[in-house]
Amino acid sequence: MKALLVNGSPNQKGNTYVALRAAADALEAEGVEAEIYQIPAGPVRGCAACGVCKTNGGNRCAFDGDAVNAILDKMEGADALIIGSPVYYASPNGQLLSVLDRVFFAGAAGAAFAGKPGAAVCAARRGGATATLDALQKYFPISGMPIVPATYWPMVHGGAPGEAIRDEEGVQAAQMVGKTTAWLLKCIEAGRAAGIAYPEAPGGKKVWTNFIRA
Ligand SMILES: Cc1cc2nc3c(=O)[nH]c(=O)nc-3n(C[C@H](O)[C@H](O)[C@H](O)COP(=O)(O)O)c2cc1C
Repeated sequence: MKALLVNGSPNQKGNTYVALRAAADALEAEGVEAEIYQIPAGPVRGCAACGVCKTNGGNRCAFDGDAVNAILDKMEGADALIIGSPVYYASPNGQLLSVLDRVFFAGAAGAAFAGKPGAAVCAARRGGATATLDALQKYFPISGMPIVPATYWPMVHGGAPGEAIRDEEGVQAAQMVGKTTAWLLKCIEAGRAAGIAYPEAPGGKKVWTNFIRA
């Protein structure tokens, strides 16, 4: 079993990393492989709403060369996803949101996400953490991903990179995200062995209802 952890902070070893590292260490202690993927520096475009990802077999964004298709590729081999972001103006990092819009829009056409646990952690100096987690957690249920619980909303507090290691409660919540992700993965594996599969949409096909009538 493997979990992919995505660091959406430009600080590779900053406070978001503190939370992700705590979750990764807890996963590994439970026997789950954990890979922390750093979103590379450099420009990231937003979703162009071109729809090419709906026609090319899924799991591939038309715009190659940044983190998006790398994450989609990694999710093919991962059983869970943990996203980490710094809090910027009481929201996730804009670069990360651009990546995630494209990852989940392209990924929706395939099976890279459904039935796989999802979690978000964030790092703030002072405020805006729950709003940030709200935004990040929106990606999971719409993609068929159960949201992982913790002992508290998984946020760590710190200003200077690495300072969050002193936020003991925040670090414990991030560790708990790792433990509960491992627990959910084991429950899902046991369920699969017992013949319990992730369900299909009622009727076997996703329904689209746009509220416009001719
Ligand atoms: C553009 C920008 C906006 C920020 N906005 C907030 C904010 O709204 N609330 C807050 O508590 N901290 C804010 N911060 C501080 C960071 O969230 C904080 O330093 C965090 O620990 C950074 O995580 P990192 O070390 O992983 O990059 C902001 C930082 C930057 C660069």
